Amino acid sequence: MTQRQILVTAALPYANGPIHIGHLVEYIQTDIWVRFQRLRGHRCIFICADDTHGTAIMKSARQRNCTEQQFIDEMQAAHQEDFAGFGVTFDNYGSTHSDENRQLCHEIWRSLNEQGLIKQETVVELFDSQSGESLPDRFVRGTCPKCGAPDQYGDNCDKCSATYSAVDLIDPISTTSGQPPVQGEAVHYFVTIEALHEFLDEWTQSGSHLQDEVANYLKGHFLHEPLRDWDVSRPAPYFGFDIPGTEGRHFWYVWFDAPIGYMASTKQWCAEQGESFDGWWKSPATEIHHFIGKDIQYFHCLFWPAMLKTAGFTLPEKVHIHGFLTVNGRKMSKRDGTFVMAATYLKHLNPTYLRYYYAAKLGPRLDDIDMNLEEFQNKVDSDLVNKVVNLASRAAKFVAETGLSATYPDDGGLFQQGAAASELIAEAYEACNYGRAMRLIMELADRANPFFDDAAPWVLRKDPAQADRVQEICTVALNLYRQIMVYLAPVVPELAEKTEILLGQPIKHWDDAQTPLTGSPVAKFKHMLKRVEAKDIQAMIDESKEQAAAAADAEADSSTPSTTTADSDAPLKAEPLADQCTFDDFVKVDLRIARVVSAENVPEANKLLKLTLSLGGDERRTVFAGIKKAYQPEDLEGRLVVMAANLAPRKMKFGVSEGMILASGEGGKEVFMLGVDEGGQPGQRVH
Ligand code: MSP
Ligand code: ZN
Repeated sequence: MTQRQILVTAALPYANGPIHIGHLVEYIQTDIWVRFQRLRGHRCIFICADDTHGTAIMKSARQRNCTEQQFIDEMQAAHQEDFAGFGVTFDNYGSTHSDENRQLCHEIWRSLNEQGLIKQETVVELFDSQSGESLPDRFVRGTCPKCGAPDQYGDNCDKCSATYSAVDLIDPISTTSGQPPVQGEAVHYFVTIEALHEFLDEWTQSGSHLQDEVANYLKGHFLHEPLRDWDVSRPAPYFGFDIPGTEGRHFWYVWFDAPIGYMASTKQWCAEQGESFDGWWKSPATEIHHFIGKDIQYFHCLFWPAMLKTAGFTLPEKVHIHGFLTVNGRKMSKRDGTFVMAATYLKHLNPTYLRYYYAAKLGPRLDDIDMNLEEFQNKVDSDLVNKVVNLASRAAKFVAETGLSATYPDDGGLFQQGAAASELIAEAYEACNYGRAMRLIMELADRANPFFDDAAPWVLRKDPAQADRVQEICTVALNLYRQIMVYLAPVVPELAEKTEILLGQPIKHWDDAQTPLTGSPVAKFKHMLKRVEAKDIQAMIDESKEQAAAAADAEADSSTPSTTTADSDAPLKAEPLADQCTFDDFVKVDLRIARVVSAENVPEANKLLKLTLSLGGDERRTVFAGIKKAYQPEDLEGRLVVMAANLAPRKMKFGVSEGMILASGEGGKEVFMLGVDEGGQPGQRVH
């Protein structure tokens, strides 16, 4: 077999949050593929990095009161620890905020420019009315223009998933100043990707680079009409790389520099290893394989090949695309405790379980992968523990003193069958059809176990005359076990290592499954893998729930100070503070909590609502309040308000008003009633 030279990448995780079990679908899948290729004797490097740019990270750093660099450094260390904990082993783990990446971005930009693919255009966008800064989508909130959901971000709606531009939001508010933003114009840089339409048609539809469903999706959604120019710049403020010639004003959009990070991380590795960068990224001898989730196929299957083509780099051999993780049939949910962080999982459960379970669930298509927690437990127990590890533990103890038989005994053709399955299993791995590979491997275990059970060496060993037979049975069982473990090694490397120790022979090559071991010693069996405990799964879910609740509280706490610092001075300027008064003056006004018993429109008055307030017991007051434009009567009933309760009654056109309720704002729609925290009682005095 000729040795392939393969470069594998997994998507670069965003540096704005920790790794969770959804991400791990991808990183475990990719790691398995890399280990498989190496076991087959190919040269294969695994490259990744953190994706560090963009407004989300800028925002997180601001919220934490640290620099972006500090924020991304911390996150990168956490990501690397999580991956290591799951045995996901990269040859290099870089960062998109690196010198290598900046250089490569410049190089590719130059190529795009030289080929006339960059153009400038003026775009209408939002600016903060106080600071004059342009407002990235994530810094604007308002009502969704599609479904009317309040308090949505400027790029898409959480409620209805609509995507839109921030200028389309209804009643937008800048989250930096809390003020309505103003519209303005800014220059953006675009890549006229339509110039590469023909190339992309050919590359995506040729059948070998993409799964069929991906090729069809791209054809049906994008390539059937002219490709829209791709907006690759963002105006300041932005955490990213300056576009040359516009320093401090325009930055490359995070999705421009992120995939270039694959190369930058390779470059770092090459420098350390004394390898040639061009040997990996400009050589037809290298196969490049990207593993990504279905949410980012658009970037990887259209823009990325277009950029590589333009700049003269090697195009991907294949982009492998997987679906999304659901848990117990639902989207991962913080409230249900199924949004499990990698680090939380590791506190409670063995990573080998998840590697095997995901492998058993992964197919070559884009379907979502459901992690059913009960099935997770059953599958790991019945396959890995009962069928595989138990075979070794039951056989090893009878040959710890004698070692394996000197010649391989007659096993009725079992080892030969296992050896013959090699190529079928390898094909399944190669095609990322790990589910099929696991089924084929478990079929081998399903034949090995009955052989051992029927031979019943634990009975035979009571008869000293049968000692050779016992040794033979266990030689067969341990060799069948080892064969299975060679095939499983990419999925469960830790168990493969334990097998090497038990049988004193390394597992170095896929073809180690072709020849049985004979005459070699067997070590004392050491525990390999315990059963999955339901209580550990539950503890993991419980802890995830608690974390989510604590994070929500912290968010609520931190949002108060961060908005205060950016509060506008306009209200105070509009109405400066009143003259000082004494405490005695203050207590003259008797402020009380009251409950709104009923609220009615006053048809003749366009500003007033008639409120009946309860001060507890039978005490009722009627108040006419100028809040009709800001509140619906039905929303007020039952609610607690604060009232000035000892004001002299005032006779109005529609009746007598016996007090006032406390509210701020300039009137009309801009009226904000004071609320009462939980526990306050009608009739209590407010000091
Ligand atoms: N930063 C980009 C990728 C840039 S690549 C040049 C990104 N980051 S991510 O952190 O959001 O996601 C990283 C990878 O994990 C993506 O391929 C994404 O599809 C995958 N997954 C994230 N959540 C997932 C699930 N719940 N399930 C399966 N894969 C998931 O996208
Ligand atoms: Zn909506």
